[in-house]
Amino acid sequence: MSCSRREFLSATTVAAVSTFLAACSSGSDAATGPSNVNVTVTLANFAALNVVGGIAQVSSTGTPVAVVRSGASSYRAFSMVCPHQGTTIGITTSGFRCPNHGATFNANGAWTGGERTSGLFEFTVTSNTTAGTITITS
Ligand code: FES
Repeated sequence: MSCSRREFLSATTVAAVSTFLAACSSGSDAATGPSNVNVTVTLANFAALNVVGGIAQVSSTGTPVAVVRSGASSYRAFSMVCPHQGTTIGITTSGFRCPNHGATFNANGAWTGGERTSGLFEFTVTSNTTAGTITITS
């Protein structure tokens, strides 16, 4: 079987792009989390959490952890370790941004732009409304 130069270049380009995309979608981008996080947070200590949509970093010892107030009495907690290459991400007005390669994430932890990667690792949150605390565990 023979093929033209154009057919050959087209086929090899498709193969090269496929290999490139496969390489980009694997590796260190899995949003795996630490297994040793167990943090209890007094909500009144974080003014940003007074309003729905507020975000605060609540722990920087070991794995940095951010809490998002997702509703009147609901909270979500995310690892602030970038799933791309492990840089500590920062908080923005609407989510998070990695200073290393610019990946951005919304307040639900989903990747929204910049360096393509997975979403943020989410921890389990248990509320104690009587005590005004939440406990974050991995
Ligand atoms: S380490 Fe965060 S975008 Fe690369």
